[in-house]
This record gives sequence, structure tokens and C-alpha cells, in this order.
Amino acid sequence: MNFSPDLLSLLQESSHVAALTGAGVSQESGLRTFRDAQDGLWKQYKPEDLASPEAFRRDPKLVWDWYAWRREAIKGVRPNAGHYALVEMSKHFSEFTLITQNVNGLHRFAGSPRVIELHGNIQRVRCADCYTFADEWDDDEAEVPRCPVCGGMLRPHVVWFGEALPRSELEAAVEAARNSEVFFSIGTSGVVQPAASLAHAARNRGAVIIEINAEPTPLTPKADYFLQGRSGEILPELVKATWK
Ligand code: APR
Repeated sequence: MNFSPDLLSLLQESSHVAALTGAGVSQESGLRTFRDAQDGLWKQYKPEDLASPEAFRRDPKLVWDWYAWRREAIKGVRPNAGHYALVEMSKHFSEFTLITQNVNGLHRFAGSPRVIELHGNIQRVRCADCYTFADEWDDDEAEVPRCPVCGGMLRPHVVWFGEALPRSELEAAVEAARNSEVFFSIGTSGVVQPAASLAHAARNRGAVIIEINAEPTPLTPKADYFLQGRSGEILPELVKATWK
């Protein structure tokens, strides 16, 4: 891809940068994006109908099994060139905050030093009642596994539809967005709040918005630069062109 010289000098001269990533950055690792069709057994369900407190109350085992299936599906999945380019990028700015909506842990796996996981992490499991984290549990029981401390049901440590985001993570993300000179929005459809509003918070404070996505999104008309294509290709090319 040919990048504009303005974009390259902007990146060379910036010190405070934030990036928000979504399911698109994991697509080239072999993970389906959130709004893609699902496989087999789960085809009949919409994620929105499984990822909610109501769904868990209605049928905890169904929700537990869906997450167990997703945990299994990401075993053996590895970061792609886009994840590694973000690690490289972080070395060139005095402050670089990586904010992700992804719960798969791939940014940490790739070695990104500080990642704000806005929607939690699917590998972690905690009590639905007392919030105690569990290190071990059995996915194959007939019932949802129980908390060793209070006997409540265990659940994945992810943010469900209708639930608030973890406060400290959200505050850190908003602060990073507001303080950024450059804000990247990468591989996210930008339709789920409050993550989607971070780009606007950054823009209102004067940040330059760079969007990288396979398709245009609602953010695209507001972006200063829209780099259309796959993040696993564009990000490494951008890093190379900027700091070669
Ligand atoms: N490179 C860049 N962008 C890509 C790629 C790729 N290789 N593949 C897909 N995309 C883009 C799609 O065009 C789309 O805009 O990634 C985006 C994925 O969008 P969603 O599936 O909606 O994922 P995301 O934006 O992360 O969803 C946000 O919604 O359901 C909730 O909690 C869930 O964190 C998730 C949140």
C-alpha cells in the first residue's frame, strides 16, 4: 500500500498514541469476527442472545457451554502479523495505549506491554455472585461448575450485553483517547458502545483518526485516514514505511 507522506511524518512526530482494536485484528489468526455466521450447533443462536445476563439466568448451562466451545476454539490460535506490528509500533511512541474489545488475549500473547481489555478475557472464569476468580473448573459436568468459596455459579470473565464495562479499564481508555494526538481504530465495526465512542472522544480533543478496516464503517466519514484492507497486512507495511 502507498501511504501518504503526511501520514508517515505524523506518525514519526507523534508521541501520544492510542489504538482501539476489534475482532477484525484476529481474523487473520483464523478467528471469525463477532458478527460472522457461527458454526454447527451454534448456528441457530445470535451472540447477542447468548452473551447476556438474561441468557445466563434463563439457561446457564447453554451459555457456559457456548463459552467452553469458544475457549476450545481459540486454543492453538496464534497472534498474526498485525498483532506483532502493534508491539513494534508501541516502541516508537513515548506513550502508546492499546485498547481492545477482544477477549481472546492475543495482544498479550504477542507481547504488547500494556493492554486494556475492555470486554474482559475469555480464558478467565469467575464467580457470578462473589467475583472470586477460579483457576480450575470442569467443563464436562452436567451442571455449570460452582465457586469453591461461596457455591455460586461460575461464569466467564467477559462483559455481556447490558453489563457495565469494568470501571478502571473504561476510565483508562477514555483518558488515553482524550490525551492522544493520533487515535487508531482497527478491525472494529464501531457499533458497540461505549468502545465506539472512544474515537469520537479523541477526535473532539483534536486527535487525528486513522482507521484500518476491511470495509467502511460508521466511523469512516469522520476518519482523517481510512486505510482499507486487512490489518495483518497494512499494519506491518505501515510500521515499515514509517520507521524503516
Ligand atoms: N482486517 C481489518 N478489518 C477486518 C478484517 C481484517 N482482516 N476482517 C474483518 N474486519 C473488520 C470488519 O469489516 C468489521 O468492521 O472487522 C470488523 C469486525 O466487526 P465485529 O465483528 O462487529 O467486531 P467488533 O467491532 O470487535 O465487535 C465489538 O461487539 O458483540 C460485541 O463484545 C463483542 O467485542 C465485541 C464487540
